[in-house]
Amino acid sequence: MQSSDIRARFLEFFKKRNHTILSSASLVTTDEQGVTNTTLFNTAGMQPLVPYLLGKPHPEGNRLANVQKCVRTIDIDDIGDKTHATFFEMLGNWSLGDYFKKEAITWSYEFLTSKEEGLGLDPHRLYVTVFEGDANSPRDLEAAEAWKSLGVPEHRIYFKGAEANWWPAVKGKDTWTGPTGPCSEMFYDITESGLGDLTPEQFEQADSEQKIVEIWNDVFMEFEKKEGTIVGKLTQKNVDTGAGLERLAAVLQKKDNIYDTDLLKPVMDLMVKAPNSLSSKRIIADHLRASTFLIADGVIPSNTDRGYILRRLIRRAIINTTDKKLDEKRISMFIDTLVGIYEKSYPELLSKKEYIKGVLNEEAGKFGQVLVQGIKEFEKSAENLTPEVVFNLYTTHGLPFEIIKEMAKEKGLTIDEVAFEKALAQHQSLSRAGAEQKFKGGLSDVNDPMVLRYHTATHLLHQALHDVLGEGVGQKGSNITPERLRFDFSYGTKMTDEQKKKVEDIINEKITQHIPMKQVTMPRAQAEQTGARHFFGEKYGEEISIYFIGDTLDAAYSKEFCGGPHVSNTSELAGPEGKWRFKIQKEEAISQGVRRIKAVLG
Ligand code: ALA
Repeated sequence: MQSSDIRARFLEFFKKRNHTILSSASLVTTDEQGVTNTTLFNTAGMQPLVPYLLGKPHPEGNRLANVQKCVRTIDIDDIGDKTHATFFEMLGNWSLGDYFKKEAITWSYEFLTSKEEGLGLDPHRLYVTVFEGDANSPRDLEAAEAWKSLGVPEHRIYFKGAEANWWPAVKGKDTWTGPTGPCSEMFYDITESGLGDLTPEQFEQADSEQKIVEIWNDVFMEFEKKEGTIVGKLTQKNVDTGAGLERLAAVLQKKDNIYDTDLLKPVMDLMVKAPNSLSSKRIIADHLRASTFLIADGVIPSNTDRGYILRRLIRRAIINTTDKKLDEKRISMFIDTLVGIYEKSYPELLSKKEYIKGVLNEEAGKFGQVLVQGIKEFEKSAENLTPEVVFNLYTTHGLPFEIIKEMAKEKGLTIDEVAFEKALAQHQSLSRAGAEQKFKGGLSDVNDPMVLRYHTATHLLHQALHDVLGEGVGQKGSNITPERLRFDFSYGTKMTDEQKKKVEDIINEKITQHIPMKQVTMPRAQAEQTGARHFFGEKYGEEISIYFIGDTLDAAYSKEFCGGPHVSNTSELAGPEGKWRFKIQKEEAISQGVRRIKAVLG
């Protein structure tokens, strides 16, 4: 089934059930969205509807359905895999104080499985999750009953905790705010032979191996959250649903990734002959698609806020091309193709096609000059790629760190990343608005207090994982942005909910204990005697900087070889008002024996 048919069928299905069809709101958030105006873009279908979910009467009634454009950049480092995208479309049906769990679940099921009116998916490949209950809300037996009455067998209904089955509201600049509540998710088996019944453990495993994919989420909104805390019940009960169009298209078109669907394949086809990697091609396709929609919604590249995100997307697309170049001809080819895919659903793209190309050409031209000059400088100093030279290429010549690394790799050279981080940390006077600095991966912006908090949280996490999972845990990678931390480590199996909770509790305890984070420098031989953790396979210099969490190095809870920078006390992780807590958002396998945790403070 083509994606245009999925959209059309969805809207028709809910129109027949008395829903008014809305067109997509802009990607750019507006002041009218009240509590959500601290987010730069609409990241879920519910976001433009927040005032109405909080009780304001909607002019089109209390049953609505739409296909909402969304942009999410929190997972930007995952782009290139099978399922992540910065731009995506979310199908949603909405009850504003009208129907609730029974109808929402029944219609989700009917739409997914009906051959006549819906998508005709196989009910035997469907699994569902419901909320297991906590202090905020009881075990969701009502949702489970609704699933059972449709014929979903009991053993395919999995009860899960708030981490998986609670919609956390909308993440603003600092905290979660808005309508919130438990949810029920639908998963579909995409394996060729079919997995059949799965125990809860097998279900988790299949999820982490992407053998089953989440295709729909029904949120039952009953509560309101302010500043991260549930403050009471909403005046009305709402239903907020979300089904990702890309994922549904992949399932229906029998593809194991979204880039092979009709929504992205024509763009990928433009690059079949290019020798860059598959993940680079996916990054280009994804980022140019997001850029196209953002420019059409009025965003222009700049060094701050929305414009900065757009700039970053365009530049990342460029550095992922084989020759680090997007000239007019290529831009024209990509935009013609993208607009061709979307013009029927989003006619504004067609009328803005030349404008979009113009914005992209100008931005690519500016970045091209930075690159040409920087690459020349790199060639001059490639023989002697000391940390100082690398740092100079980065700061003075504005060459993105990813590019320096890549070019060095092509020449068989390695870069001492730790020394680079250290030099960067010492260079605190760098302008915060400096686009290149934010643009870099790893520790993204050392002038951002959130990055420092997440860096210290990463050290706590590293130690807490050792405490809970044992000494076998080894750090495999770390990446920090102002939005979250990401930590890769060696460990053979999926962590249980209990283990995750233990890790969170340990870290939150350390946060509330107000422990100082201190630094000492000493010769390497001595540093190795302290028991401080070293990073995976890094080369260290003769003078080692150790960061430790505790009053003294001997009694420290955590000690690591590290160039910093960090906050000066764990209490700073609790945020300006002392309320934030450390939360694991996701724990998944990224390869055999390597797990990835994403965590936030909020
Ligand atoms: N708001 C819910 C989501 O985005 C439906 O998953």
